[in-house]
Amino acid sequence: MRSLGLIERYRPYLPVTPDTHIVSLHEGSTPLIPAFKLSAAIHPKVEVYLKYEGLNPTGSFKDRGMTMAVTKALEEGYKVVMCASTGNTSASAAAYAARAGMQCAVLIPEGKIALGKLSQAMIHGAKVIQIRGNFDDALKLVRRVCEEHPIALVNSVNPFRIEGQKTGAFEIIEEFDGFAPDFQAMPVGNAGNITAYWKGYREFFDLGKSKNLPRMLGFQAAGAAPIVLGAPVEKPQTIATAIRIGNPASWKQAVAARDESEGLIGMVTDHQIKEAYKVLAATEGVFCEPASAAGVAGLFKLSEAGFFDNIEPVHGDFIRVVCILTGHGLKDPDNAISVAEETITVDANQDAILRPLNLDAVPA
Ligand code: F0G
Repeated sequence: MRSLGLIERYRPYLPVTPDTHIVSLHEGSTPLIPAFKLSAAIHPKVEVYLKYEGLNPTGSFKDRGMTMAVTKALEEGYKVVMCASTGNTSASAAAYAARAGMQCAVLIPEGKIALGKLSQAMIHGAKVIQIRGNFDDALKLVRRVCEEHPIALVNSVNPFRIEGQKTGAFEIIEEFDGFAPDFQAMPVGNAGNITAYWKGYREFFDLGKSKNLPRMLGFQAAGAAPIVLGAPVEKPQTIATAIRIGNPASWKQAVAARDESEGLIGMVTDHQIKEAYKVLAATEGVFCEPASAAGVAGLFKLSEAGFFDNIEPVHGDFIRVVCILTGHGLKDPDNAISVAEETITVDANQDAILRPLNLDAVPA
């Protein structure tokens, strides 16, 4: 499957024609990894799977939307694409624009994007403009510029982004042989991805390709939780910079996904995000960026409140939960280094390196 990009894999469900020139980096077809230890830690009745979107070509789920958005921008004759971004969208837009031979401009909040993402936008040759403002300010500016100039806006307010991203749901249903999971947990920032997944699940359900619909569980960071609080947050704050958004563009669609699916949108603190981030890396070997861990943090929170105690599985013996791990951990090395145990430096001899290993304490 990996040899095809997602437009080729899901062509009948996407707005392309035989003449469309497809701009692809062979995105999609990411693994759905069972997380045994995490499942046991969350709840005895729950079976957690990790959709590892960090394994997309630029290291995040944005590539699913960007292959469609850039393909269509090229088809419509645009020469320039533009986006506002907390980092991943800019990395993805820059890469796909480079591949398409288009120019790319990205607006990012100064000093608030992870280093890996910044390096990507720069090396792919985008014009990187840092603004003294946050993501919401940047998106407002970009929308206006794209309305007034012949520039394609490739944020998730572009419907082609949603079309591409809905394929994540298709993959999950196919992996489970025609079932959606009981629940899907994911981070919510600008709210495009929860909108896209819900669209994908509904489409396959309506086509009879899925026997059920999942309940959608979205999580915002507590310092950037406008949907939970019911009002925009003027100065959003969180270590999960990817979801540091105070006024999501797809707010209404996210609420519709929540309500139609009988799900919920909750919030998790930075401390809860960091704990989930460490547990994923240290017990499952899966390294995602902090924002991606918000869904897992949310599951811990729900479970502690007894949420899963009275739920019956849709199919089989366990309540199936898929967590969308939206971005790769390598995007944000600074956060990884700051939450992990410090490294040690010793002299270059055997005794010195054996001492910290403390092998006597390792069970036989
Ligand atoms: N996780 C990661 C790693 C993200 O980069 C984003 C959004 C989200 C979750 C939330 O997804 O916005 O569709 O609700 N990043 C955008 C960006 C805003 O500019 O890269 P959403």
